[in-house]
Amino acid sequence: MFLTAEEEAVLAGEEGPTRQQLMEILVAMGKVFEAEKMVPIRSAQVSGASYKTIGRWGLEWLSSLDAKASVPAILNPVGMDRIRWKEMEIDPVFAKNQLDVIAAYERLGIRLECTCTPYYLTITEYGDHLAWSESSAVAYANSVIGARTNREGGPSALAAAILGRTPAYGLHLVENRSPVLSFHVEDAPEKSDESWYGALGYLAGKIAGNRVPIFTGIRPSRDQLKNLGAAMAATGATALYHVQDITPEARVFKYDTSALESITITASEVADVYSSAEPDAVAIGCPHCSDEELTKIAEKLQGCRVKKPLYIFAAKGVITRSAESVGIIEKSGARVFADTCMVVSPALEQYKTIMVSSGKALAYVPNMCGAASVIGTLDDCLSAACR
Ligand code: F3S
Repeated sequence: MFLTAEEEAVLAGEEGPTRQQLMEILVAMGKVFEAEKMVPIRSAQVSGASYKTIGRWGLEWLSSLDAKASVPAILNPVGMDRIRWKEMEIDPVFAKNQLDVIAAYERLGIRLECTCTPYYLTITEYGDHLAWSESSAVAYANSVIGARTNREGGPSALAAAILGRTPAYGLHLVENRSPVLSFHVEDAPEKSDESWYGALGYLAGKIAGNRVPIFTGIRPSRDQLKNLGAAMAATGATALYHVQDITPEARVFKYDTSALESITITASEVADVYSSAEPDAVAIGCPHCSDEELTKIAEKLQGCRVKKPLYIFAAKGVITRSAESVGIIEKSGARVFADTCMVVSPALEQYKTIMVSSGKALAYVPNMCGAASVIGTLDDCLSAACR
């Protein structure tokens, strides 16, 4: 792997032990994946932020580092709302450890937005090289924006944030971005909500694994694409997908799909993912809600009073921009929390059955919260909470 003189100097420890250790991580990855060189990145998104997932050893490692991010870098959701954690009934011992993790990242120059939707807050453009680590953010950046990032782990994203570069392999190379599998969706409803694309992605991810698929027969909106990619990244390892005539690279490259393996998914298979089980809590915002989703929820909750816990998650910056909608939502008794989500926070471990509108949360809630999960449309979720 070719290293510039500057990269060689960092690797030799001339810029201190932290930068040396982080360069060792990037060089080791580059060698494993046969990268020819490093590529400069425009931004990083760093996971491994919830104390629930990284624990004491993660905190100790972060505390041992001494360097600063050299490119814009944003943190993944943590285990609680940084301000309203008491309202989430977070154990004070957990909160103390979580605040220590956050402080360690702040010291490293990572922006404390704590979100899996950094694309709502920062400018990311077609062709940008990135080092993002949260799997739904990776799928969105690659597929919906046409930027280029591999699925980084927490330490490699942090190393890239601090050193401003990442090994050029995998999805940084245009030859690895073409579809190798085609999904034809039959009888897709003309009008469907975001959850339908989550349920579709829940099925498609299991089939695609880590292959790059292209969809035909659907015309999703941006929020629907967000849910589709998040679910595929959860039940499979999808980091990039295309939708014929919709996503940017599918429009630029006009892929010939005639020779690809082709799989049909029918609307009735998607319908079978839904369940009518009665939840004891409802959680929306996986990935974190957009401004438009908060507006839609506020319109539907106008004048209602929730009778079961209804959690909604979004980035702090989006919540601040959508103050009016958030006010209406919270008047109903629902809570809109920042910085965290139903999967990485311990707050939802107290429930037996959680209804979600996301294919990714449907896949992760059982393992991460110890609760059964069911998927419903946004209307199903809100009426379950208000029943
Ligand atoms: Fe984001 Fe948490 Fe879902 S990190 S994608 S809201 S599991």
